[in-house]
Amino acid sequence: MMTPLPGAPHLAYAHGRLSLDGLDLQQLGKAFGTPLYVYSAQAMRAAARAYQAALVGRPHLLCYAMKANSNLAVLQTFAQLGLGFDIVSGGELQRVLAAGGDPSKVVFSGVGKTRAEMQAALRHGVRCFNVESQAELEVLSEVAQHEGRPARVSLRVNPDVDAGTHPYISTGLKGNKFGVAHDRALALYAQARALKGLEVVGIDCHIGSQITDIAPYLDALDRVLDLVEAIEAEGTALHHLDLGGGLGITYTDEQPPSAQALVGAMLQRIDARGHGHRELLLEPGRSLVGNAGVLLTEVLYLKTAQADEVAQGGRHFCVVDAAMNDLMRPAMYQAWMGIVECQQAPADAPRRTWDVVGPVCESGDWLGKDRELAVKAGDTLAVLSAGAYGMTMSSNYNTRGRAAEVMIDSGRAHLVREREQPEQLFAGERLIG
Ligand code: LLP
Repeated sequence: MMTPLPGAPHLAYAHGRLSLDGLDLQQLGKAFGTPLYVYSAQAMRAAARAYQAALVGRPHLLCYAMKANSNLAVLQTFAQLGLGFDIVSGGELQRVLAAGGDPSKVVFSGVGKTRAEMQAALRHGVRCFNVESQAELEVLSEVAQHEGRPARVSLRVNPDVDAGTHPYISTGLKGNKFGVAHDRALALYAQARALKGLEVVGIDCHIGSQITDIAPYLDALDRVLDLVEAIEAEGTALHHLDLGGGLGITYTDEQPPSAQALVGAMLQRIDARGHGHRELLLEPGRSLVGNAGVLLTEVLYLKTAQADEVAQGGRHFCVVDAAMNDLMRPAMYQAWMGIVECQQAPADAPRRTWDVVGPVCESGDWLGKDRELAVKAGDTLAVLSAGAYGMTMSSNYNTRGRAAEVMIDSGRAHLVREREQPEQLFAGERLIG
């Protein structure tokens, strides 16, 4: 009997053992070592196809926001489905090229693009720069003239709507560093039109991440369409609307709209306001990969508190071999991520409430608090919904090599990134003298 996990149909328990796309996760953890990220290519494809289905018959381009997970095999999987990419650095552009992605389907976002990054992007013919300030616009114009290649631009406007998400991942409010203020956008479009080397092609906005409601999207859309109408009235034609990413996933009990529902609602509003002819660009990240991946970790030690210690605030710690350097989200955002046993203990096995913590020397190094688990040393745990902003945010703190990554495709496990070894971490360092 297969029991799928909520929000993650590709994960299921069969006879008490957790599998992803039919492969036993504990066995994968033992075979490849832990900590280990494991992804399902099929789940990623299904997520991308849901967006594509919602956009059938419309001029559109899905640009996967690769900051969510930039492993080459992930990029390859999406490139093969015809997706483009939303990049935020020259390094990400190099990854797109290395994975066989098409640079003419790339949009370049970010508040701090360097001249060198602009130059590389122009040389590779990226589709559009999402420009975030007047100063950037002026520099881009210079670089484009110097290169003798026009830079296609959108301005990222900040619609000043509250996406109702965590303050660190909300980007569309006045106080955020992102985009240009809505009331200055018109003047800036006039400047963009006048500057040499630039070709205005669209408008862009992105209001935040892990958004679980349609309403803020529609508010932002209305504000953007108001601007589009004002900009066009002044004689600048806008070819595309880029409405960013941000759709949330289920970590615990969130019930985000499906891609179909979100895109459907946006298209309806776009049509109702007479903008249906425009090409629509979207930049989803988390919703394409988040639920397609898990982080496997082995239980190293159980460190229990005595009853009298518990009475004084003592905790039971389940020390695992993955840490905040492998998965930053809990430490950084107090994010709740599901943690489950890869092999369920018998129903009568003792259970306790654990803080699941890693080996890093920080009290903030925890993956989950107050988790009821029946565990013993040597067991494998899976941190769920770890496909997005897991590996890409990992670090080498405490000289810990970054985890290996495995992608399951057509029933086979492919090692898509080797575990980093300590020598690699200091290979670029030098002794003095
Ligand atoms: N486009 C732009 C311009 C963005 O800044 C982002 C994310 C996206 C698209 C993709 O958003 P998504 O569909 O993934 O929500 N590290 C945080 C999330 C930071 C998101 C930053 N920008 C986390 O772990 O929750």
